[in-house]
Amino acid sequence: MNVETSSTHAAEVAPPTAVGDVLRCTDLRRSFGAVQAVDAVSFRIHAGETYGLLGPNGAGKTTVISMVSGVLEADSGSVLVDGVEMHPGALTAKAAIGYVPQDVALYPDLTGRENLLFFASLYRIGRRRARSRVAEVLDIVGLTERASDRVETYSGGMKRRLNIAVGLIHRPRLLVLDEPTVGVDPQSRNAILGSVERLSTEGMGVLYTTHYMEEAERLCDRVAIMDLGRLIAEGRPRQLTARLGDSEHIRLTLEGDSTRAVAALRDLPRVTGATATDDAIDVLVPDAESALPQVIQVAAAQGTVRSVSVDEPDLETVFLRLTGKRLRD
Ligand SMILES: Nc1ncnc2c1ncn2[C@@H]1O[C@H](COP(=O)(O)OP(=O)(O)OP(=O)(O)O)[C@@H](O)[C@H]1O
Ligand SMILES: [Mg+2]
Repeated sequence: MNVETSSTHAAEVAPPTAVGDVLRCTDLRRSFGAVQAVDAVSFRIHAGETYGLLGPNGAGKTTVISMVSGVLEADSGSVLVDGVEMHPGALTAKAAIGYVPQDVALYPDLTGRENLLFFASLYRIGRRRARSRVAEVLDIVGLTERASDRVETYSGGMKRRLNIAVGLIHRPRLLVLDEPTVGVDPQSRNAILGSVERLSTEGMGVLYTTHYMEEAERLCDRVAIMDLGRLIAEGRPRQLTARLGDSEHIRLTLEGDSTRAVAALRDLPRVTGATATDDAIDVLVPDAESALPQVIQVAAAQGTVRSVSVDEPDLETVFLRLTGKRLRD
């Protein structure tokens, strides 16, 4: 273990090799009126770990993140950030978090660099150190070349990246990102994913919510699947997909009665699950090759089968299996 205790900058720069949890949530609950938005949620994030919260709309992801970041009070349960209790008045715990909300909060008539210097001053970072820190975070999000342009000239994706840079300015131990790539162009999306990977290598903990399972598979050391306020599964992406055993995933598009087709498919002995989504029917089977003829025959009895594809199990399949819903509508 290599923990600095006496160097002059140890207080402001947390050593990346420090061990332990940067976040520990225990039995978090929060309701809004009759809606139990978050129900008995517990999880931990280690230093250097990227943790993904996956769930459909309304699952409770933003409510969890808001309590973790001290923006919203929990009804019960506790949040420890780097060992310090978080609540809406907890300045020390908040200083350890970089919270990047989905909405962009920047000054459009200032340049990117001026925005960052302003936020650095709010954290009372001295001028000289602020300059070098601003240069670092601009580099992390890939905006160095646009730093002298006014933010109103940025694309949506660049604003999102600058928002992340703001969240990093005070060197948090834990970065909290709420769906950072929604509505972002591919170039900015790549830049954001690359930044998260780099920060994680440097020892930062990251809490990441997304609807995009391919992002979770690329970035996250562990993921939790959330539905109706609860964490219903947690593990490394590969562990979760392995839990499905040898399940394979047949996707059919059917012109006809999907509801009856799904009911008939569920009755087949070689089928472990079937769900209708807007444009397709998803069928889980232990072995696609042997099940396929029967699956097609049963579906064709309810209409015209337009296409058939077979996929290896992935997080999307796990999600569908556990919740009966797709991650993305
Ligand atoms: N301020 C609020 N007042 C009332 N209900 C709320 C409030 N915030 C959230 N909710 C409800 O709590 C539940 C969880 O919402 P939350 O925003 O946490 O979901 P989410 O997983 O972030 O969804 P999305 O993927 O759409 O962002 C939903 O039923 C939502 O309507
Ligand atoms: Mg949300």
